[in-house]
Amino acid sequence: MFRCDYFYSVTSQVAQQVEVNTVAASFAGLATRITILHRYIVGELRKPELLHHLPENDALAGLCGAMISAWEVYSSPKAVILFVVEDVTYNICDQRFHEYEIRRQRPDIHVIRRNLTQISEQGRLTADKKLFIDGDEIAVVYFRAGYEPGQYHSEAEWDARLTIERSCAIKSPSIHYHLAGTKKVQQEIARPGVLKRFLTESEAEQVGQLFTGLYTLDRSAEGDKAVQMAMENPDHFVLKPQREGGGNNVYGAEIKEVLERLKDSQEREAYILMDRIRPPVQQNYLVRPHLPVTLAEVVSELGIFGAVLGSGKDIQFTNYSGHMLRTKLSSVNEGGVAAGLGALDSVFLFD
Ligand SMILES: Nc1ncnc2c1ncn2[C@@H]1O[C@H](COP(=O)(O)OP(=O)(O)OP(=O)(O)O)[C@@H](O)[C@H]1O
Ligand SMILES: [Mg+2]
Repeated sequence: MFRCDYFYSVTSQVAQQVEVNTVAASFAGLATRITILHRYIVGELRKPELLHHLPENDALAGLCGAMISAWEVYSSPKAVILFVVEDVTYNICDQRFHEYEIRRQRPDIHVIRRNLTQISEQGRLTADKKLFIDGDEIAVVYFRAGYEPGQYHSEAEWDARLTIERSCAIKSPSIHYHLAGTKKVQQEIARPGVLKRFLTESEAEQVGQLFTGLYTLDRSAEGDKAVQMAMENPDHFVLKPQREGGGNNVYGAEIKEVLERLKDSQEREAYILMDRIRPPVQQNYLVRPHLPVTLAEVVSELGIFGAVLGSGKDIQFTNYSGHMLRTKLSSVNEGGVAAGLGALDSVFLFD
């Protein structure tokens, strides 16, 4: 299950990809509810003629349907779906909608939630690589945690991850997709010619148009050139480490400081450089806890959810599941809904 994020770029006048999330892609639950909320508000305004501008959003049903399809492929009626969760789940209000939706679509499928420490204590593999947790056979593993070093407290959590990976349970994501979602792999995929290895010529051209400039910071002539470019015009770029969950990127003048500190160290290779996308600034109201609601300058980022089910050999299906929109103050760098800097929003389409 994925979420690909896009800004509309004022400079290039097309949608450009911010990144692809292949692990713990969140907000399908809340984004679906927000669409319902905003459609209701349009009714309260007594402007039902505007409703067709707000597209329906089936993100939650789509992603849960994908988990159910995976469960069916695993083909063991008593097996359950495992959600790998944080020790303390701050976005619980998004996560639990997935459990309720699975239950709504298929009352016979059970979901269990465990953190990596609990899995290290309770999980075991049978000789034929079935994963059992507390007596339950696991058909599908959905990682809502495990993308952050801090979520691996000791070797036990890494062992739990390895146990899951070695099992025949269907994983979202498998380690391959987890790695494919790193900023480094996204940068390598954006190199000229790489997309053609996976897509037809015309598909590769269309997908390629979504990419903004992405640059390696490897210790090579190419990496040195990117460093020089960033030092000369730091405001034109974003410096990204191999992290997920927001709050880790470096912007503006701080890029120079970080690159000066990294110099030619090996650590430099842990980052990539990306063109900074400039989205159109609009006026809107952000409704946030404990803050007055005032008209503010904001920018919006569109997330497109999708799912793919496959093995090393073939793909059973791949589909679009729904969308989400995040709107934040134009003055802040990161999306940060959980951090309180942005808000969930709805798409309003017009010609
Ligand atoms: N190239 C860019 N141009 C402008 N803003 C960007 C760019 N890259 C990232 N951002 C901003 O920073 C936010 C976080 O960046 P990114 O999505 O790459 O990091 P992340 O840690 O994977 O975040 P997430 O938790 O959303 O997956 C984006 O939502 C966007 O608002
Ligand atoms: Mg991300």
